[in-house]
Amino acid sequence: MEAIARAHTNIALIKYWGKRNSQLFLPTNSSLSITLDHFYTETKVQFSDQFEKDSLLLDGSQATDKEIVKITAFLNHVRNLAGTKTFAKVTSVNHVPTAAGFASSASGYAALATAASKALQLDLTGTELSALARQGSGSASRSIFGGFVEWHKGENEAGTDSFATQILDEKAWNVSVLSVVVEAGPKSVSSRDGMQRTVETSPFYDGWLATVEEDLKLMKEAINDRDFTKLGEIAEANALKMHATTLGAKPPFLYWQSATLDVMQKVMELRQQGLEAYFTIDAGPNVKVLCEPENEEMIKEKLAALSSVRDVIVCHPGPGIQYLSDW
Ligand code: DP6
Repeated sequence: MEAIARAHTNIALIKYWGKRNSQLFLPTNSSLSITLDHFYTETKVQFSDQFEKDSLLLDGSQATDKEIVKITAFLNHVRNLAGTKTFAKVTSVNHVPTAAGFASSASGYAALATAASKALQLDLTGTELSALARQGSGSASRSIFGGFVEWHKGENEAGTDSFATQILDEKAWNVSVLSVVVEAGPKSVSSRDGMQRTVETSPFYDGWLATVEEDLKLMKEAINDRDFTKLGEIAEANALKMHATTLGAKPPFLYWQSATLDVMQKVMELRQQGLEAYFTIDAGPNVKVLCEPENEEMIKEKLAALSSVRDVIVCHPGPGIQYLSDW
């Protein structure tokens, strides 16, 4: 009983920021992302009665006990669905440039949910897989699908209506996402801890909640109309609002480093010069720059010239999960 799956990372244009139920990974707001073609995780899951516990080989190294506890908790969801107690051997490889400091939890849990459920012959639909992957990491719910994806926050307590759906497939609209890797130290607050602290202590969190659904509505209109300017303006403003909530938290924190600001300022400067680009930033110092494909080479060059930039990787909308027969 084994299966192999591949899932890609995604970048949120409307951020998931805060949980209403942290056990079930139920978000306070809906979010929207682009699945990226360049960065992905491949995971093989083997279930066998011969195994005495779950194990995880991550990028060639045995996982720590802490990582195994998380994987076991996640696999228990899959085992419950299949009505089995059999342990699993998980082998996972991240095809994400290590220097990129990319959060691989989205592609990681999407690939794990897909391979584990297939190995146990569960035959889940895309939305069922999305709700399953969500319980490993919220953003993983969106990596099940390719292209432009919305994660509906859902209303019910059990979380059965909290899953992602595809808005446009990866071929329907080509936008460029430049992944800008900056010179920076390690981040001190994880996205999980950061969002929780913000929900619990930041007076600015109410401002976030009051406006995020409107941002989402306008973003969906922009996608529907293939209106790049509108997409960029909303994405940048939404990211800035998310980061503003962290400054009001107790204790306050900030994901940006000086190199992050260098890139943000450069993007604004390019815009003033008539070169259309926008930025978005997740829970870390790196920046993703959005532009139209015809400008990507020129913008890449200008960003790469900054002394605080280590690398610029050009991405485009990528596919959803794939089942692999071998690797
Ligand atoms: C800022 O999905 O990493 O990247 O659900 O706790 O695993 P957990 O958090 P995670 O949070 C991602 C936060 C974000 C915004 C986003 O991707 O929507």
